[in-house]
Amino acid sequence: MAHELPALPYDYSALEPTIDAQTMKLHHDMHHGAYVKNLNAALEKYPNLQSKSAEELIRDLNAIPEDIRATVRNNGGGHVNHSMYWKIMKPKGGGDPSGAIAEVIKKTFGNFKDFQTKFNDAGVKQFGSGWVWLAGKASGEVQIISTPNQDNPISQGLFPIFGNDVWEHAYYLKYNNRRPEYLAAWWNVVNWEEINQRLKTFQSHHEPALAGR
Ligand SMILES: [Fe+2]
Repeated sequence: MAHELPALPYDYSALEPTIDAQTMKLHHDMHHGAYVKNLNAALEKYPNLQSKSAEELIRDLNAIPEDIRATVRNNGGGHVNHSMYWKIMKPKGGGDPSGAIAEVIKKTFGNFKDFQTKFNDAGVKQFGSGWVWLAGKASGEVQIISTPNQDNPISQGLFPIFGNDVWEHAYYLKYNNRRPEYLAAWWNVVNWEEINQRLKTFQSHHEPALAGR
């Protein structure tokens, strides 16, 4: 079964004015579409890898044949990252986090404002293209990290609770070179329910009782 481009869960214009419709259309159809196409093309000569999910492929990149490793890293990562990105945003999203993610943020960073500042700073400082993440560690704790290109925290043994895309293709049409403005506005479309679902998946695999093992 070849990898498929997931449909956007809302219209191209649904996240306006935070993210404009043209950016969404190009970003989803062309950029994400190309990652899926390139991933499938790379796997053509390796039928044994075709049944694996994109997450499984990038979890252990050393297990990927060397001739397609970089392609799988970039395009498998691109597919995983963007599949998450569309879902962790929604029209009329944003506001203060609630539920378990609110507790984790408070416990780790003190308050939501300080967390946002640190997350946005990490996104601004990611030189060139990449992503900024809240990632879960094996200890059950969380940390803010940034990754270059389409690298996903999975490849470092971390769990991607959520991340924001800081490639220019995510914001350039509307925000031009003003990445900090995009990072600040992005919180208006964040889907905390979906993020809480992802946190639940992380926590179910990393019970606090296991911390320190
Ligand atoms: Fe992107």
